[in-house]
Amino acid sequence: MLADVSKNIFLHASNNKALNKAAKKWGLRFGASQVVAGDTIKSAIKKVQELNEKGLVCTLDHLGEFVSSRIEAIEATEYNVRTLEAMGSAGVNSNLSVKMTQLGLDIDRNFCVQNMCLILETAKKYNNFVRIDMEDHAHCQITLDILRELRETYDNVGTVIQSYLYRAEQDVKELKGIPLRLVKGAYQESPSVAYQEKEEVDENYMRIIEEHLLSGSYTAIASHDHRIIASVKEFVQKHNIPRNQFEFQMLYGFRTDMQLSLAKEGYTMRVYIPFGNDWFGYFMRRLAERPQNIAFALKGFFSK
Ligand code: FDA
Repeated sequence: MLADVSKNIFLHASNNKALNKAAKKWGLRFGASQVVAGDTIKSAIKKVQELNEKGLVCTLDHLGEFVSSRIEAIEATEYNVRTLEAMGSAGVNSNLSVKMTQLGLDIDRNFCVQNMCLILETAKKYNNFVRIDMEDHAHCQITLDILRELRETYDNVGTVIQSYLYRAEQDVKELKGIPLRLVKGAYQESPSVAYQEKEEVDENYMRIIEEHLLSGSYTAIASHDHRIIASVKEFVQKHNIPRNQFEFQMLYGFRTDMQLSLAKEGYTMRVYIPFGNDWFGYFMRRLAERPQNIAFALKGFFSK
């Protein structure tokens, strides 16, 4: 009950435009620095290098979402291009994750696609891959439509499917052959579109993971849930799915020991590293996911 209340409060805060705007000026606060790798490209690349040395691969995410001005979207696009260039020159093992609303999706669809193309052209130059994060349900269909359009020209782009959505299984079937990151889902969605019970979300999660793996498609299993990870390990072994057809992914700062042990066992383990000053929405969603993360945040709060 208390967990539900705190979840709603944090999810609500994650969408609050005034708080998100103010937080950009505060700098990393309330323990956010434990899960966000600084606010510059340089700090992010340094973190990637450290993790690469430990056998982990990465994906960088320049934080930002729900942008409402063209200038901000262009700046975000340029920042992503520079991030890809910096990764290329540093020779690190990391790809890029982006959010379409950061690139102007809510302003003008074609403008957003153009920005996305600039990013994908740069990624292609460096032989790199770009993952479109999945945002709230209101942006799901348009994100998938744009992905399909982009895939006609670029093979270095994929997206994310959320198992809490009823539509997830059908989407995964239709996206056979496209590299997908599969997650449970992090936004507040209504019962008209999404499962509300954890057991149902988990069941659907395993269903879509199995579906995508069995179709021979490259699958990223992005979860900190040891039960899911154990089931995936068992499933791939039983069905002889080669290790180069899937990877595990976790967020920077979460379950670091498990990340390292999966890498030691020979699995590809990718760490999602967010960086930049637009950290508030991301951080609030992490607090909503797990009440224990609040203790984590408080620790950071008092150490500031
Ligand atoms: P979940 O929160 O369901 O926890 C299950 C169990 O795992 C817990 O009960 C606990 O036992 C254990 N556990 C979980 N976290 C733990 C921790 N930190 N320490 C110890 N035990 C822990 N969402 C989205 O909507 N769009 C997106 O694009 C993405 N992208 C994305 C990328 C990556 C790399 C990750 C890991 C996640 C996302 N997500 C996302 C977020 C995702 O949808 C989901 O909200 C979170 O991963 C939380 O769900 P989990 O499966 O990790 O565990």
